[in-house]
Amino acid sequence: MAIREIRVEGDPVLKKVSREIDIINERTITLLNDMAETMYHANGIGLAAPQVGVLRRVVTLNVGSGLIEMINPVIVESEGECNSTEACLSVPNKVGDVLRPTKVVVEYLDRTGEKKRMEAEELAAIAICHELDHLDGVLYVDKAVAVNEIADGE
Ligand code: CO
Repeated sequence: MAIREIRVEGDPVLKKVSREIDIINERTITLLNDMAETMYHANGIGLAAPQVGVLRRVVTLNVGSGLIEMINPVIVESEGECNSTEACLSVPNKVGDVLRPTKVVVEYLDRTGEKKRMEAEELAAIAICHELDHLDGVLYVDKAVAVNEIADGE
């Protein structure tokens, strides 16, 4: 496993649309392992592959109930609306308010290729929406209703 460099706002890779994984191979597993390590090292709750410069539809999450790895995730149901205050490892020293659904259902493949379906609410739903946006080249600051600078180290 290895910690990868997190790309930050201004890097064109963050604006690109990621491609699906066709075949889960050793490279995919290494990517998943490295993304989890990189996410934990940066104290993040979610990371999308383009944030480490890989334009593939892969996401890691940990919103408090353990590591979740998603390959080719798709939101198939979405309901409600809430105001979410978000930050992003690729947008240092800022927080912003974004409108998000309160509940989503997401389908994806796990690292073994098994199809999974997950219902998520509140923080988990928000984190999934935030990370899946990265796969389409969208940062939360692109859709935020307000963004504020915060002091470094806060
Ligand atoms: Co982010």
